[in-house]
Amino acid sequence: MRRNSQSSLLAVGAALLLGFAATAALAESGKVKPPSPGEASFANDIQPILVYRCLECHKEGGQGEVESGLRLDTYEGLMKGTKNGKIILPGNALASTLNQLVSGQAALRMPHNKKPLTPCEVESIRRWIQQGAKNN
Ligand code: HEC
Repeated sequence: MRRNSQSSLLAVGAALLLGFAATAALAESGKVKPPSPGEASFANDIQPILVYRCLECHKEGGQGEVESGLRLDTYEGLMKGTKNGKIILPGNALASTLNQLVSGQAALRMPHNKKPLTPCEVESIRRWIQQGAKNN
């Protein structure tokens, strides 16, 4: 009886050790990555901001659309930009007009004459552009 419980303890110990070893090996081979902050999503993170903070002026016939040509009701509209050109350079948030306007780095700030976006919203937009501005 004593012998048995000792050997089953040993078996448990060995299994645990093997488990640790396997996890360590996987981590080393790059298969198990540490948790990443995750990818920003157009549908989940960006579109909701555009809808409730920008759309009133940047839909067809809205003040912003009429003056700048920018429509923000679709991904395509956002990527097409204004009558003067693109406002997003995928992978380069710093050089993207959109990022500059919402983070207050430009003389003009968006939303126009309204409460600025929260730091969290600005960061979502920056991260999404930096990750390639995908329609994801
Ligand atoms: C209250 C109306 C209003 C809201 C809300 C608004 N805009 Fe605008 N937007 C304008 C107007 C008006 C212009 C044209 C301004 C100008 O060219 O002087 C403009 C122009 C722009 C431009 C072009 C700027 C340029 O350099 O030509 C961008 C980009 C833009 N808006 C993005 C946004 C984004 C993003 C939001 C939401 C976070 C937003 N706007 C919310 C009215 C608005």
